Amino acid sequence: MRALILAGGFGTRLRPLTHTRPKHLLPIANRPHIEHVLGLLHRHGVTEAVLLTSYLAEAFEETIASAQARGFTMHVTHEEEPLGTAGAIKNAEEFARDGTCLVFNGDVLTDIDLGALIGFHRDREAIGTIYLTPVDDPSAFGVVPTDDDGRVTGFIEKPARQEAPTNLINAGIYVLEPAILDRIPPGEVWSSEHQLFPSLVAEEAGLFATPLEGYWKDIGTPGNLLGANLDALSGEYQTDAVAGPGPHASLVDASAEIAEDAQVISSCVGRGVRLFPGAVVKRSVLLPDVTVAQGARVTASILGQGVGVAEEAIVEDETLGDRERV
Ligand code: GDD
Ligand code: MG
Repeated sequence: MRALILAGGFGTRLRPLTHTRPKHLLPIANRPHIEHVLGLLHRHGVTEAVLLTSYLAEAFEETIASAQARGFTMHVTHEEEPLGTAGAIKNAEEFARDGTCLVFNGDVLTDIDLGALIGFHRDREAIGTIYLTPVDDPSAFGVVPTDDDGRVTGFIEKPARQEAPTNLINAGIYVLEPAILDRIPPGEVWSSEHQLFPSLVAEEAGLFATPLEGYWKDIGTPGNLLGANLDALSGEYQTDAVAGPGPHASLVDASAEIAEDAQVISSCVGRGVRLFPGAVVKRSVLLPDVTVAQGARVTASILGQGVGVAEEAIVEDETLGDRERV
C-alpha cells in the first residue's frame, strides 16, 4: 500500500520557525518530524510514500534522499499554490488510482496500529475510513460523530466547543479508496474537511471512522511541538531517537559543546549547540547552532537554528525564529 503525506501547508501557527522551513521538518527528539511519520509507515511494512508538497518544497530534498537510502520508494508531487487537503490528493491521482491508499496529515505524531485501521476499513468495505482520537477540547479539530457500527454521521470542522457533538476528532489519518478521486474536481482548491468528507456523509457513500489506542499529537502549534518533544523524552511517545527515556531525560547531540557547569534539564539540544558556563536550559528545544551565553536561562522555549542568547538573559515561553538574538 502507498501512503500519501500532506506536507504543503504554510505552518502559520508555528511562525517564525516556519518562515524558513515547512513545519514537517521541525525536530522531534532531534529528528525531522516527517522521519517519525516515515518510521511508523516502515514499521507497518509501508515502504512507498508520496510527499504532497507546496510551500518550501525544496527543503524536503535531504529527507527524501535519506528515506530512499533506507529502502523507501519516494515520490513527490508539487502544487504551485496549495490546492487544499483534498485538492492535493487529486493532484497526486497518478499515485492513488491503482489501489487503496493511506493518507496522512504530515504534522501528526502517532504510534497507532495502521494494520488495525486498514482491517476495520476492509471489514466495512468502506470508501474511506478516518482514524479518530479523543481530545479534551475538540474545537481546534474536525469533529466526527458516528453510529454504533462506525458509519460517519457528520463532519464538523472546528466547531465552537459547546457545539461539538463528541470529543472524538479526526486524527488526520485515513484509508481511502480510489473512488473518492472522482469526487474531487481537478485543478481546484478543495478541502477534505469542508467539502469531500461532508459530501461523502450527505450521499451516504460509505465513510467510516474508528477510534484506536495510541499516542497522538498534532505538532502544528508551539505548545504541541514542545509537548511532543517532552513526550519523546519522558517516553510517553516511544522512539528509538531517545535511548533512555524517563522523567528527567534529555537528548544532547554529540557535537554540542556543553560547559561543565551548564545544565540541560528535560530538553532536546541539537547539533553544534554551545552552552557557556552557568547556562541553564530547561524543558526546551534547541535547534542546531544555538548559543546560550554565560549565566543565561532558557525555559519552556523553542529556539530556531543559530539563535544567540546573551549573557544573563532570561528566555521563557518563547518561540524564536532562526538566528534571532536575545
Ligand atoms: N499538499 C498540501 N496542500 N498539503 C496541505 C495543504 C495543501 O493545500 N493544506 C494543508 N496541508 C497539510 C498541512 O501541511 C498539514 O500537514 C496537513 O495538511 C493538515 O493541515 P493543518 O493546517 O495542520 O490542519 P489542522 O491541523 O488545522 O486540521 C487538520 O488536522 C486535524 C488533526 O490534526 C484537519 O484535518 C482536522 O480535521 C483534524 O482534526
Ligand atoms: Mg495540523
